[in-house]
Amino acid sequence: MTRYCLNSSRSGTGDLHEAMTWIPPQSNPLFIIDTFFQKESAFIFNEIHPSSKRIFWFDADETQKSIERAIAIWEWLVELEANRSTPLVIVGGGITLDTGAFAASTFQRGIPFTLVPTTLLAQVDASIGGKNGVNFLTIKNYLGTITEPTHVIADTRVLATLPAAHVISGWMEMVKHGLIADPELWRTLSSFQYVPRPENEPELIRTSSQIKFNIVQDDLREDGRRKILNFGHTVAHALESLASREAMNVPHGMAVGLGMVFSLTWSAQLTTENSRQTLLDAAQIVRAWIEQFTEFNCINWAASLDALEVWNNMKRDKKNRADEVLEVALKAIGEAHWDEPITRPVFEEVWQQIVHENSSAQN
Ligand SMILES: NC(=O)c1ccc[n+]([C@@H]2O[C@H](COP(=O)([O-])OP(=O)(O)OC[C@H]3O[C@@H](n4cnc5c(N)ncnc54)[C@H](O)[C@@H]3O)[C@@H](O)[C@H]2O)c1
Repeated sequence: MTRYCLNSSRSGTGDLHEAMTWIPPQSNPLFIIDTFFQKESAFIFNEIHPSSKRIFWFDADETQKSIERAIAIWEWLVELEANRSTPLVIVGGGITLDTGAFAASTFQRGIPFTLVPTTLLAQVDASIGGKNGVNFLTIKNYLGTITEPTHVIADTRVLATLPAAHVISGWMEMVKHGLIADPELWRTLSSFQYVPRPENEPELIRTSSQIKFNIVQDDLREDGRRKILNFGHTVAHALESLASREAMNVPHGMAVGLGMVFSLTWSAQLTTENSRQTLLDAAQIVRAWIEQFTEFNCINWAASLDALEVWNNMKRDKKNRADEVLEVALKAIGEAHWDEPITRPVFEEVWQQIVHENSSAQN
């Protein structure tokens, strides 16, 4: 089982040297590191020079999450004569972790690796649960494995340099964890009028990552309960695919936020009178966070989309049936049900409701 360590002490520099002391003392580890840290020298540990061949610098761009980059990593591992006793440490956001862990889990049928997540999304989500992979033939995460790291070492202080668009992406996953599994976490998160800086909220990060940890431990291969982690994500993936076609800048967190507003509003229709208003109130709170990021203008953009196109994109998901999409619905905050069918007329009705309410609020 993976050992998860989260360091949140406010003292110290937050450098990798400190994190390294938590890794088992083996000789000559190799590193795959996000190139962002080439200039952030404080984060580079003392044991190794940035120009060392033992570092594979990884450009964290979604186009680099590819089989070609995995091949480059395999070639580097061969050149450095890596084997199953070579510790490999992968440092970065979800793109670097997904690609590095994919390369590690397939090299010589799998070499052990440690993940050091450096974005909020990677600390609460991408580093947990063993999923890794690369994009293939323009399809996201089409090749991959489920292989757990030996360690995840997260230091919240490294998040101080994270830009707002990446903060919102991690924040929305934390919100999702509260909504699907922990009413107390949701209550705390919902008390923030503005999305806070994550480096100041280590306890929320700890709680959120623990929720994902607990869910995946029971269902690593996503046969059942792990599916609740897809809450809001079917709509989000459809929006991201339409955004990339239109060259629109829609950060992952904004798409997930809109997806959750949709799923909360739809869930409110299915649940009891008692829970209905709580779910609608939650949708309003998530909507308010999205509206804070006016530079992306996501809600007006969503309102301009053809609902049928969004629906057709949702249906492309291989898990769906001919005329239905299987979604995660909440019966109440913290009570998520997976494989709940939604039909096109119901989707269109709820979609119109949320985008028109939103666009009038933004204009
Ligand atoms: N494996 C999983 O379970 C899982 C779960 C969710 C998402 N993902 C994947 O994660 C990817 C997105 O990852 P992400 O959002 O973590 O970020 P990212 O890897 O896309 O990185 C975002 C940007 O932030 C930079 N960066 C990294 N750390 C930084 C820091 N501390 N300060 C400032 N900048 C920093 C990177 O260089 C990059 O430019 C997607 O490819 C997605 O598919 C995987």
